[in-house]
Amino acid sequence: MKIMVLGGDGFSGWPTSLHLSRRGHDVLILDNLSRRRIDDELGVMSLTPIQPLDTRLAAWREVSGRAIAFHNVDVACQYDRLLELVCEHRPDAIVHFAEQRAAPYSMKSSRHKRYTVDNNINATHNVLAAIVESRLDIHLVHLGTMGVYGYGATGGRIPEGYLPVSVAADDGTHKNLEILHPAYPGSVYHMTKALDQLMFQFYNNNDGVRITDLHQGIIWGTQTEETARDVRLINRFDYDGDYGTVLNRFLMQAAIGHPLTVHGGGGQKRAFIHIQDTVRCVELAIRNPPAAGDRVRIVNQMTETHRVRDLARLVAALTGAEIRCMENPRKEAAANDLDVSNATLLRLGLQPITLSNGLLREISDIARVYAGRCDWNKIPATARWTPETCSSGGVLQCGTLAACPT
Ligand SMILES: NC(=O)c1ccc[n+]([C@@H]2O[C@H](COP(=O)([O-])OP(=O)(O)OC[C@H]3O[C@@H](n4cnc5c(N)ncnc54)[C@H](O)[C@@H]3O)[C@@H](O)[C@H]2O)c1
Repeated sequence: MKIMVLGGDGFSGWPTSLHLSRRGHDVLILDNLSRRRIDDELGVMSLTPIQPLDTRLAAWREVSGRAIAFHNVDVACQYDRLLELVCEHRPDAIVHFAEQRAAPYSMKSSRHKRYTVDNNINATHNVLAAIVESRLDIHLVHLGTMGVYGYGATGGRIPEGYLPVSVAADDGTHKNLEILHPAYPGSVYHMTKALDQLMFQFYNNNDGVRITDLHQGIIWGTQTEETARDVRLINRFDYDGDYGTVLNRFLMQAAIGHPLTVHGGGGQKRAFIHIQDTVRCVELAIRNPPAAGDRVRIVNQMTETHRVRDLARLVAALTGAEIRCMENPRKEAAANDLDVSNATLLRLGLQPITLSNGLLREISDIARVYAGRCDWNKIPATARWTPETCSSGGVLQCGTLAACPT
């Protein structure tokens, strides 16, 4: 298949592009390299030494004998160029990773909020409009987030996108419907993903665009089978307070002798997936498109749920690291339950990679090898959801996990 990967230089887009290329697909990356510029803005770099994209692509050609093409395009701003490339390359599928994806970054200031909304909403809308204007039957696979559901907002098991409801009519009868699960975004970033869902619903209803929206959990891990083949292919490893995701942050903190920083009491339960499974799931989604006329297919792309403090304890047991509770800069429930259906991917054949010491150790080893590249000053999460979210006026209070609320 011909596959266009938007955001193919990013943490998920790069290993996905390699995986699809290795599986024989003809891959074309579009990326404006904004994620690398955000590293410059934040004064931080990936813990792993990621290479410039042209070096990465040359290394992949050398290692695999396969070429991946690249165009530097801003999907949110350069609509005409995007349309031109879609019409020229006529992809069977477009995988859309090209959004600003960090909740803390999206909450740093009004400038960051506005950038996240402008970038994410325009990128998604431009892709949809280009598919329609091209008149091609292109399957759009989008990376959404589990965060759109809220955590425990409706109670019970989180379904895959649609909630069965019974609507009472005035005459006392009831009508059974399936509606989009109500959205409870917890940050401006999550809000853009909730708005993406409405755009998908509209373009699917109005124009019949075939869409799969993958509501993904938090990714852990860094390398995949393909990125591990050559050091020049190494994947990104974000550890900073804005972009570092929780389990990778713990593993990196342990590797450099920094305490594991848990927000609040760590009672938040979240959904997780290993990066290797992310790339496999995207391929499964591409190989199993919705049929013409089907509604938007929403798939929960996660493999397990864990409470943050349990992850901290796991990493502490593995590495001997100390755990510290910090005041939570986010506005979120101190604790929640989470039960998620991921039936679609299991039915399609995914055999989940779950947390295991072996893999945790592998990531821990990578973190240790590159520990010298870590800037300790960039570890604390500094973005505040509101000025009041830290009662101490932004000064983080530390304690031991035992002293944290359970
Ligand atoms: N990383 C996670 O844990 C996680 C979890 C759930 C969902 N997701 C979703 O997966 C997608 C990819 O996440 P990631 O972790 O790979 O992020 P990332 O920031 O590493 O990658 C995003 C890529 O898109 C590019 N990009 C952004 N805006 C663009 C634009 N306007 N035009 C062209 N390119 C643009 C960036 O330069 C970057 O290379 C995101 O949409 C994110 O919401 C990620």
